[in-house]
Amino acid sequence: MPVRISPSILSADFVNLERDLHRIDTADLVHVDVMDNHFVPNLTLGLPIVQRIQEVSPLPLDVHLMIDDPDRWAPLYAETGAFSVTFSGEAAGDPTTLARAIRGAGSRAAVAVKPDTAIEPWLDLLDEIDMILVMTVEPGFGGQSFIEDTMPKLRAAREAIDASGRDVWLEVDGGITLETIVTAVENGADTIVAGSSVYGKGGTPNPSTGSRHFGPL
Ligand code: DX5
Ligand code: ZN
Repeated sequence: MPVRISPSILSADFVNLERDLHRIDTADLVHVDVMDNHFVPNLTLGLPIVQRIQEVSPLPLDVHLMIDDPDRWAPLYAETGAFSVTFSGEAAGDPTTLARAIRGAGSRAAVAVKPDTAIEPWLDLLDEIDMILVMTVEPGFGGQSFIEDTMPKLRAAREAIDASGRDVWLEVDGGITLETIVTAVENGADTIVAGSSVYGKGGTPNPSTGSRHFGPL
């Protein structure tokens, strides 16, 4: 099974974003975290910046929306030419219609689930989506610790995808290090997001925990 790496620019230097995009040009994708300070308690960047990243990125964009009302916004991110647009399942009003709109705009459609969200209802959507993202931390901040309790859910998703025979990717995001990447892949992940363990520093510390870890470059 091929394993794809999608470094998260949440931990990049936003003032030197183009330079930092080129630092990861041997990866497979670039993961762009969009946060609105409503769905998650943090704010990052929005549509105009994603449009500009799309223009200069050497890698396809893996856009991860952590925002309210993805039904309105996600198709607009797809229209930027993003390779993949992931919406948060908990925030979606009509996931099937939304996935079709994202695909209709030319992107791969994906649904993300938070660590405490059951995966089963989302497995009914396998015909409509191209990727499932199992969050391995609470969304909102880089530098948090991998939540091992999400692994049964990851395995359940892997089994359902394999049983479906469909080419649906299975992504993990949060707390990936040289150790936890092995756990995630053993439990079925084929697409790996890594922020602080790639860029080594940066990102926004979580004000409630101060949590931030720095890994190898
Ligand atoms: C967190 C974001 C992640 C974040 C991961 O909510 O979705 O993509 O950048 O950062 P690390 O790899 O540092 O946990
Ligand atoms: Zn992310």
